[in-house]
Amino acid sequence: MHSIAILGAGMMGNVHARAYRAMNQTSSLWIVDPVASRAGVLAETYGAAVANFEEVLENDGIDIVDICTPTFTHRDLAISALEAGKHVFCEKPVALKLRDARAMDEAAGKSGKKFMVGHVVRFFPQYSAVKELSVARNIGEIVMARLYRGGSFPSHGIDNWFADPEKSGGVFVDLSIHDFDFLRTLLGPVTTVEARSSMLSSDKQKSSFDHGMAILKFESGALVHVEGSWAEPPGMPVGFGTFYEFIGTRGMITNSYERETTLKLQTSIEGKPKYAQENPAHFDPYAAELESFTLSVDEDKEVPVNGREAIESLRIALAANLSAKLLRPVELSEVH
Ligand SMILES: NC(=O)c1ccc[n+]([C@@H]2O[C@H](COP(=O)([O-])OP(=O)(O)OC[C@H]3O[C@@H](n4cnc5c(N)ncnc54)[C@H](O)[C@@H]3O)[C@@H](O)[C@H]2O)c1
Repeated sequence: MHSIAILGAGMMGNVHARAYRAMNQTSSLWIVDPVASRAGVLAETYGAAVANFEEVLENDGIDIVDICTPTFTHRDLAISALEAGKHVFCEKPVALKLRDARAMDEAAGKSGKKFMVGHVVRFFPQYSAVKELSVARNIGEIVMARLYRGGSFPSHGIDNWFADPEKSGGVFVDLSIHDFDFLRTLLGPVTTVEARSSMLSSDKQKSSFDHGMAILKFESGALVHVEGSWAEPPGMPVGFGTFYEFIGTRGMITNSYERETTLKLQTSIEGKPKYAQENPAHFDPYAAELESFTLSVDEDKEVPVNGREAIESLRIALAANLSAKLLRPVELSEVH
């Protein structure tokens, strides 16, 4: 059983509080948010207590700090919590700059506590299935792919922080990083990124990268097109969607979250075409992710997504931002 403090009572704080309660492994839950009304509502909904961050740091009974605050606050909160001897789960993206992410990872190393970053797409059955299917059903070597992830602009963010690239990093760093991270686990290291983004947010407080496209070249030779969007019109029947298509040397796997939740597997092995459909089980990937974290704490084993991995996924997103700014391909080695 764990005593857990969630920092941030916004959208993700809600998702995490619900997941912890569903997991039934939480002896006590604490909510921290400078907006007292937000903390109060979340605490009441999930039978939690309200605290401030200093109280959390001083309370030796709290063993886990879960950071669900705007990205620009992650670094300082994570380092303080680790230095206070807490295990830390931090929402993605780990930070906005590589040096901040490295400082967090170093603090984790020094503390000896667990530090995991919320790259939750690895826990979505539609995505983990790609890895399994690509091996088990032998679609051959994945040589090309297309991935889309998008919806309308995330206007729920407190003080419209998503609209400020200095606070959110823009659509590549905040949103497409999910796909960048997954692709790294599937295809290995990226060598080059060529990206463009359009700023469609003239009516918002500040400009942001609202719709971006990136082409990733991998060391394996694979070429992948990743598109992320905050430019879909608000108020549509389906507010958010994902799509992918993985092309192997002997077959392909496609999935579209918006249209259906079915995996289509089309292979042609030794001249024999085959079609198969799968419906991945529906479960809460956020609960699976957080459960994997508490299990790593319980069993003192490596977390599924550590700081070093989060740094590499952030590097790809920052390379996409740089490429979109310079209007040229960017080598990953240029981003440090
Ligand atoms: N994994 C995912 O699928 C996913 C989805 C959306 C957002 N995110 C990430 O989760 C994080 C939070 O996003 P959100 O959409 O929940 O934002 P949000 O704006 O809805 O909520 C953030 C909350 O944090 C509070 N806060 C600000 N500073 C704080 C501090 N110092 N201590 C405690 N609370 C503080 C705010 O008052 C607000 O209530 C971001 O890093 C975002 O990129 C992840």
